[in-house]
Amino acid sequence: MIELKHALWELGKVADAVQLDNFFQIYLGKRWLLNEEFKLLVSLGSEDKKDKWAKLSEIKTELTAAYEQKQQYFMMGKINEQLEKDLVDISLDVTTEYGSYSLLAKVRRDIEDVYKSMWFIIDYGHEIVTKFENFESVNIPLSHPATEMHDTIYLEDKDPSWQNLILRTHNSAHQVQDIMKYGVPLKLWSPGRVYRFDSMDASHDVMFQYAEGIIVDKNLGIAHFKDTMQKLLSAILWKNIIIRMRPSYFPFVEPGFEIDAQCPICGGTWCSLCKGSGWIELLGAGMIHPKVLINAWLDPKEWSGFARWVGVSRLAAIKYGIKDIRYFTNGDLRFAKSFA
Ligand code: DAH
Repeated sequence: MIELKHALWELGKVADAVQLDNFFQIYLGKRWLLNEEFKLLVSLGSEDKKDKWAKLSEIKTELTAAYEQKQQYFMMGKINEQLEKDLVDISLDVTTEYGSYSLLAKVRRDIEDVYKSMWFIIDYGHEIVTKFENFESVNIPLSHPATEMHDTIYLEDKDPSWQNLILRTHNSAHQVQDIMKYGVPLKLWSPGRVYRFDSMDASHDVMFQYAEGIIVDKNLGIAHFKDTMQKLLSAILWKNIIIRMRPSYFPFVEPGFEIDAQCPICGGTWCSLCKGSGWIELLGAGMIHPKVLINAWLDPKEWSGFARWVGVSRLAAIKYGIKDIRYFTNGDLRFAKSFA
C-alpha cells in the first residue's frame, strides 16, 4: 500500500509546476497509484475492505490537501513574478504643477471676507440682465446719456425675446431685485464680472471685476458709509487708509460722491499712480435715490440706504502694483505664476 510519508516526501522534492503535474498524475490521477489501490479493494473481504478503505481515504485526503497547498504556492509565485515584470514605478519623479487662484479671484475673495465679517449677504447675481434692470430700475432713463457712457453689449436680436437682454454693465442692476428678494433691513455685497464695449487700454478692459454693496436700514447716515468703507480699504490695501469724499453725480444716488484714497505709494510726493496729487480715485458711492427705493416697494421716508461700488480689478492693480489690468485676463502664465 502507498506510504503517505513517502508520498509527502516526494511532494516535498517537487520544484516546479511541471513536476507537480507529474506528481499528480502518479499519485492522484485516475489511472495511477491511489486509484489502483482503491480498485484492489473489490477483491477483499468486507472487514478488510472497510479498514483499508478508511486508510486509503485518509491518505487521499491528506495528499490532496498537501498537493493543493503546493499548487497554490506555485500559482502565487507566478503571480508575483508577473507583478515584478509589470512593475509601475510609482516613485518616478514627475514634476507636478499645481493650480492656484488668479490674483483677481484672490482679491475678490479677500474683499468678500471683509464684508462677510460685517455680516453682509454675498450674491453674485447673473451676467445677463434686462435693459430695465440695468438702467431704468436704478433711475437711468433709456434716453439718458449714461446708457451710452456704459457702452452696453446687447445680445443678438434675431429672437425677439432677446431684444431686452444685455450683458450687465454694473451690478447696480441687481439692487432693486435684491432688496425685494432679501427684504429690509439689508446688507448686501454683489461681486461679479461686468461688460462694457470700451476700447481697451492699460486701465480699461471689455470685462472687469466689479462689486457693489448696498445697505438699507432706518436712520442711516453718511457716517455709517464712511466707516464701512474705511474698514474695507484698510483691510484690503493698507493699514489705516485715509479717504476723502467729493460730491459727484450718479443717477441712482442722491447725494453722490466719489471716493479718493491717500496714495499708498508716495503719500503725495510724486508717483506714477497718483501723478503727484497724493490721492487716487477709487470708487463711486452715495445715498440710494428715493426713486430706486420706491422701485423696490419701500417708503423712502421710512427707509434709507447707501450704495457703493469698487472696481476689484483696479483695487488688485493698486494693491499689487500692476500697471496694466489686461494682465489679469490675458492668460500669460508667467504673470499668473509670479503671484501664485
Ligand atoms: N454703477 C456705477 C458704474 O457702473 C458705479 C456706482 C457709482 C455704483 C455710485 C454705486 C454708486 O453704487 O453709489 O459706473
